[in-house]
Amino acid sequence: MFKIAVLASGSGSNLQAIIDHLHGLVAGIQVAVVVSDVPGALALERAERADIPTAVYPLEAYVDRETRDQAMADAVEASGAELVVLAGYMRLVTPGFLERFPHQVINLHPALLPSFPGEHGIEDALEYGAKVTGVTVHFVDPGVDSGPVIRQETVSVHDDDTPASLGTRIHALEHRVLPRVIELFARGRITAPEQGSRRVRVDDDETSEIIW
Ligand code: GAR
Repeated sequence: MFKIAVLASGSGSNLQAIIDHLHGLVAGIQVAVVVSDVPGALALERAERADIPTAVYPLEAYVDRETRDQAMADAVEASGAELVVLAGYMRLVTPGFLERFPHQVINLHPALLPSFPGEHGIEDALEYGAKVTGVTVHFVDPGVDSGPVIRQETVSVHDDDTPASLGTRIHALEHRVLPRVIELFARGRITAPEQGSRRVRVDDDETSEIIW
């Protein structure tokens, strides 16, 4: 069994892709808990529908971010998760949280980092006039979308794209890339960078149990 925790703030379409293509289906992967900072987030409903335990940690309920993140880390640890997946979790996690899960926290971003970090990766790439953008999965460090890259895949920007049309293609790609990276983790095929390096080794033999 390879247990994962998913952190999500919003609609949770990426969580849904994980549930539909991995949870209980591939490489012993189980979503052990879904954690959100937003009470009522659609991601929580999706988890409940799949009988996955949920937990909510709104910042207002804690004295500060560090205290909130320690409570969140306790829940993740108690779930037995070996990998923490930020799938539309729109907050920075604190260094104290990351220290609890070294090289075990990954994030999904809707642009080719280091271009267009932050909350508006799709709109920012479009406004900049980029002709190619894409999807990045990376290890999380204390910065904003600044950790070592695990996998990137590209999307062409069309002249007549709007944030919605480009977003549709980016999200469709995300729904394939993130489950695939999680599968590779579960199969022990991703090696975190050595001290002083940012280079992640991904031993992708192109075989997959995922059925799309
Ligand atoms: C995804 O596009 C993800 O890349 C983005 O939030 C969306 C969540 O969608 N994350 C970031 O921008 C992080 N900087 P979802 O809730 O439908 O999975």
